[in-house]
Amino acid sequence: MDYEDVVTTRRSIHEYSDEEVPRETLEEIFRQARFAPSSFNLQPWEFLVVRDDERLATLAEVANGQEHVEQASATVVVLGNLDPSAHAEPVFEDWLRKGYIPDEETKGYLIDTVEGLSELPEAERRVWTNRSTALAAQQFMTAAWNEGVATLPMEGFDDDALVEAFDIDDGYEPVMLIAVGYPAEDADEPEAERKFRRPVEEIVHYETFEPVEETTLAADEGREAAPPADD
Ligand SMILES: Cc1cc2nc3c(=O)[nH]c(=O)nc-3n(C[C@H](O)[C@H](O)[C@H](O)COP(=O)(O)O)c2cc1C
Repeated sequence: MDYEDVVTTRRSIHEYSDEEVPRETLEEIFRQARFAPSSFNLQPWEFLVVRDDERLATLAEVANGQEHVEQASATVVVLGNLDPSAHAEPVFEDWLRKGYIPDEETKGYLIDTVEGLSELPEAERRVWTNRSTALAAQQFMTAAWNEGVATLPMEGFDDDALVEAFDIDDGYEPVMLIAVGYPAEDADEPEAERKFRRPVEEIVHYETFEPVEETTLAADEGREAAPPADD
């Protein structure tokens, strides 16, 4: 698929077939997801892939009973490391070896800077890790679609219950869940008209920012308005 097709045809799929996504396909998708940009290239993301039926049932339970969580071939728990300095040493060593920075002194300065970020209050570190980790999650979903695999991002889960049920270390933020699989034969979305997107002229502001007061469906590229999402 060319890039525009991937991004304009990708959609969230809520019903999955029983067909398993092969591990090699999953790994190819993760391989591509890793190329997402991140703050200082610190790559704070980790992915917990849940495929076992019992574990999927537990995950569905902490995800407000969302059935697609267990129907999918796998559901991925996207985690963000809350410690910005966790991978600082190898990341800046790489910069030094490849000439992005001139010397050890600069590397030391960068490590100190990132260690400073690690001292920030947890609320700020959560924002920090969410920014980069969400980009990897998006890259995962577009890479999957390009490989013929459907996904569904989810924020509808109980953070504390998830952390407890899956024994997630304190230092990680559950950023989102992503169901992964092949659409069921009778899944609604692949055929349904694509959901409305707000038009460019409404969301883009040059030089000064004045938010529009209201959005309308009039500019939906001439298509009929899709019903509102019910999640
Ligand atoms: C951060 C985020 C959280 C979402 N949470 C849920 C969810 O908990 N359950 C669900 O069914 N869909 C969820 N969605 C999917 C959205 O409803 C969907 O992306 C949106 O309606 C646009 O449809 P599309 O992805 O097919 O273009 C979520 C999407 C995002 C980006």
